[in-house]
Amino acid sequence: QALHRAMEENEQPTGGPYFVGKKDELIEAKRSFRTLEDRDIVIIHHQGVFYALDSYCYHAGGLLQNGDIEELNGRLCIICPKHKYKITLAEGESLYKANDPQEPQPVPRWYSKGMKQRTHTVTEINGEVFVKLSKDQGWLESDFFQGEKGKLERAKV
Ligand code: FES
Repeated sequence: QALHRAMEENEQPTGGPYFVGKKDELIEAKRSFRTLEDRDIVIIHHQGVFYALDSYCYHAGGLLQNGDIEELNGRLCIICPKHKYKITLAEGESLYKANDPQEPQPVPRWYSKGMKQRTHTVTEINGEVFVKLSKDQGWLESDFFQGEKGKLERAKV
């Protein structure tokens, strides 16, 4: 309770942590949409672990909460339903598979485009789940779809 009160009284956008739900409810829902400090995020429970990411795909604002989750190259990824971009759940890194034409007999391999989707920190205390928004790493491409311009773009797709 004290923790909740402290968060409510704090009016500066600090990034949280914010209470986002009871653990049991979030597990049951598997994917939960929340808005924290005007930022739309999705909280995902998968194979016993919570993840939180910006809701809209960094590429063109696709709804990540509707994406399938697959293990690719040993890493859990959400596949954006819009154009099938693959984003690691834990880091927001965008992965793609390609051939290296320099190789004499090219075989498809996984490569990284780097961090593209902002991920947030999820913690659980006594059956309650909290998300702290990440503010680091400077500007990430998924930030675009959280701003006014990004909202207009999202409305078109
Ligand atoms: Fe997600 Fe294009 S909008 S892959």
